[in-house]
Amino acid sequence: MLRTNNCGELNLAHVGNKVTLAGWVQKTRNKGFMIWVDLRDRYGITQIIFDEERTDKETLEMAQNLGREFVIQIEGTVIERESKNPNMPTGAIEILAESFKILNASKTPPFTIENETDGGEELRMQYRYLDIRRNPVRENLIFRSKVSLAIRNYLSSYNFIDVETPYLIKSTPEGARDFVVPSRMNAGEFYALPQSPQTFKQLLMVGGMDQYFQIVKCFRDEDLRADRQPEFTQIDCEMTFVEQEDILARFEGLLIHLLKEIKGVEVSDFPRMTYAEAMQKYGNDKPDIRFGMEFAELTDLAKGKGFPVFDQQELIVGIAVPGAATYTRKQIDALIDWVKRPQIGANGLIWVKCNEDGSFKSSVDKFYSQEDLQAWAASTQASAGDLILVMGGEVNKTRTQLSALRMELAEQLGLRDPEVFAPLWVVDFPLLEWDEESKRFHAMHHPFTAPKPEQMKLLATDPGAVNANAYDLVLNGNEIGGGSIRIHDAAVQETMFDLLGFTKEEAQAQFGFLMEAFQYGAPPHGGIALGLDRLVAILGGQETIRDFIAFPKNNSGRDLMINAPASIAATQLDELNLVLKPTS
Ligand code: AMO
Repeated sequence: MLRTNNCGELNLAHVGNKVTLAGWVQKTRNKGFMIWVDLRDRYGITQIIFDEERTDKETLEMAQNLGREFVIQIEGTVIERESKNPNMPTGAIEILAESFKILNASKTPPFTIENETDGGEELRMQYRYLDIRRNPVRENLIFRSKVSLAIRNYLSSYNFIDVETPYLIKSTPEGARDFVVPSRMNAGEFYALPQSPQTFKQLLMVGGMDQYFQIVKCFRDEDLRADRQPEFTQIDCEMTFVEQEDILARFEGLLIHLLKEIKGVEVSDFPRMTYAEAMQKYGNDKPDIRFGMEFAELTDLAKGKGFPVFDQQELIVGIAVPGAATYTRKQIDALIDWVKRPQIGANGLIWVKCNEDGSFKSSVDKFYSQEDLQAWAASTQASAGDLILVMGGEVNKTRTQLSALRMELAEQLGLRDPEVFAPLWVVDFPLLEWDEESKRFHAMHHPFTAPKPEQMKLLATDPGAVNANAYDLVLNGNEIGGGSIRIHDAAVQETMFDLLGFTKEEAQAQFGFLMEAFQYGAPPHGGIALGLDRLVAILGGQETIRDFIAFPKNNSGRDLMINAPASIAATQLDELNLVLKPTS
């Protein structure tokens, strides 16, 4: 080893010890006759001191020339510091340097490598290896490793076996867009990178593996957001001979275990909500239930009172914003402008102030009596001092718009406390979703999801009304996982492909291997996949997953450090025989 100790572990108990440390020069303070160096490694920072009385001349001179981020090895003695720094684990000691070696020099880094840096996001991504030297980034990666390990331990303790599945697979039409890889040996043919190991894990169940997990990279060519990367990591799991309840119990257990182990938080409440209820109460299938502001449907109360805007609406729905009756006209106008932005697309917002004296003041006083507004307040559970905000319009649109406003207000009011954890299951998703554009059904989860057994008959008569044995795991308003009980019967799977608009030939070509497998004793099975990046970010108190990925891509899907994607050489292209031979 090039060191006897790391830079985070020495303290008063080590005074007098001869030590060798190695690390990076975070900064130096040079008074000529005395030089201090902050030496950094993964474990912390230790102060090194060179002085003219105790350090030989040559060493002192060499130390004058140390630059930021030089990699050095120093030998010296642990001594007690005169002015101690109680905020650092090593703050009571320093190392009196006897000799040192420069292991490598460094150019001046393009941004300061400290907790608060002057480097912009793009620059830090370009020099990600320098960014990783900063405490917050390094700590996020260590945190991720801790969470991964806790997950592995939990699943292993329940007999889950880690099995790897291939990355070079076949493109499928469902879900997001695939990333494809040309095959040199099979001219004109392509592999696809897996969006998830879904079919493979099902085949592992047919193969009798019983309980599988994998912490696995998945690839999706979709538009990127704070909680989406083109390559991301799933904790992918599957279980045999189980019902929905068994899976919910096991993975509820996982989250409770993680919250306890990683955050020291005891979860007392793990509610379940149907998809229909989530949409009705929160306008969202991943509701943030850390705070209230539940939706109240006011359609019956608000229609037919002569307010023409509301009279024509399909749904009128409101929320009570706690303590916001004091909002000024300007603040309310800002909210109205916010919902009218194209991203939200609402026509406007009606407001009602619940005054402390029990009276109401609203933007629609002309049309609604105090009694009417009292009824709105009762319905939205508004108290004196609250502000009721109401929207009207087409059901789904209005719910989505009010949901966005609810989240924005929660953000503004500081109700989204990152240290509070409110998990829930959303269950009973519809099996299918009608797509107006393509005039056909899409699978709400994926085509392998089983319908509720008691609704199997409805598949033939009213498929849109069938619910699935599918569930999402939601944490603090983020979907951190999703799964289902699977179809394990070839005939049902065929019906499903048929409903999704596949011809028999297409289904055979795409998924023949799976339907064939189902004819060889496929057991009942089901599973779930959690998004590791999202889970880690939320446990870490944030929602941007990039900060928890060692080498993330930017919003255009680029890796700014290695500059990918990039063009390739003509010879390389030639070899790939990229003749176009699309399937029909
Ligand atoms: P699903 O598509 O819901 O299910 O994905 C599971 C979880 O993966 C995370 N996730 C993402 N995280 C970061 N970036 C992305 N682009 C991204 N896309 C998804 C989410 C999501 O809940 N095979 C099924 C699971 C199953 O049925 O067992 C599947 O992939 O947290």
